[in-house]
Amino acid sequence: MNKILVIGAGAMGAAFTFPLVDNNHKVTLTEPYNKDFQKKLLKKNKFHPTLKLKLSKKVSIKKFSSELLNEKWDLVVVAVSSIGIEMVRQYLKNIKRKNSILVLTKGLKFDQNINKIITMSEQLSKENQNLNISVLKGPCLAKELANKIKSYTVIANKNINIAKNIGKLISTKYYKTEYSSDVKGVEFSSAIKNIYSMIIGSGEGDNTASALFRKSLDEMEYLVKYFRGKKETVHGLAGVGDLYVSAVGGRNSKMGEYLGKGYNFKIAKKKFMKNVTVEGADLAKEITPYVLKKIKKNKIPLMHALLSAIAKNKKLKINY
Ligand SMILES: NC(=O)c1ccc[n+]([C@@H]2O[C@H](COP(=O)([O-])OP(=O)(O)OC[C@H]3O[C@@H](n4cnc5c(N)ncnc54)[C@H](O)[C@@H]3O)[C@@H](O)[C@H]2O)c1
Repeated sequence: MNKILVIGAGAMGAAFTFPLVDNNHKVTLTEPYNKDFQKKLLKKNKFHPTLKLKLSKKVSIKKFSSELLNEKWDLVVVAVSSIGIEMVRQYLKNIKRKNSILVLTKGLKFDQNINKIITMSEQLSKENQNLNISVLKGPCLAKELANKIKSYTVIANKNINIAKNIGKLISTKYYKTEYSSDVKGVEFSSAIKNIYSMIIGSGEGDNTASALFRKSLDEMEYLVKYFRGKKETVHGLAGVGDLYVSAVGGRNSKMGEYLGKGYNFKIAKKKFMKNVTVEGADLAKEITPYVLKKIKKNKIPLMHALLSAIAKNKKLKINY
């Protein structure tokens, strides 16, 4: 039995507790941001409103604090959305213990100080290079994982043995793990697929979407290599695997559908997806200044078209 802390009681953080409990770990779930939500979860007998099921009685729910983070954990899982990484970083920067950390969050950040796009794990370790961070990405609809539908995921660490040890802690017969030492490739693939699933969603019909899917893979390979990952990683679970699940039915592809129908981003968001987080659009805003300036349009025409359409709030025009 290992002691595991999950930070972020959203859909994914909560779903992740299921394989952990099934592996007999001592699991603590904490919500750093939405305190009311944490209270409600406790009041309603651990019924999770997004997953629409009860979390295991064995999961203990605790208040988020630096004391909690400083306890001895065998694994600390970070499952907040990309905007929440900064908050978790502030807590982790002074942490004394060298707990093993596993980042589930998908996203990228533009770091103005160094004029670079950085990954979630790089953002977390900005002021504490001693953190022992691995990342876990891949196609995973939280509801399916929570309902124990067979899912595959990839864990990455430069030291593949660390990734494999984490795999031993979390894998079950319904949650299978693959491994990679290409942390950059895995993180970049898992983030940019949110943008490419919007592009695929904008296809006029399934035939168009399939061609856009193929072309997206070329661009993802180019971008992953540009940011010093391995282009082969795009063919793995964090790339094409996750792109598939996002393109066939996620919120990003839905937004893409509206853009493809000729709505501009602001109108589409207000009219159809007002209170819905569209991670691809948030990521687009984050990386647009860098990508449009630094990476040539003829190398990544789809990405350029989408970023420009969102940034200038104009119709999406894809010439492919
Ligand atoms: N690696 C995987 O297998 C996998 C699978 C699904 C989702 N994800 C990623 O996990 C992350 C969370 O996804 P989700 O579906 O649980 O989302 P969600 O919206 O259900 O939950 C978001 C979580 O982030 C927290 N949060 C939001 N804003 C915050 C802020 N400003 N400061 C601190 N915390 C904040 C919320 O309180 C909540 O705990 C996303 O980045 C998503 O892409 C990863």
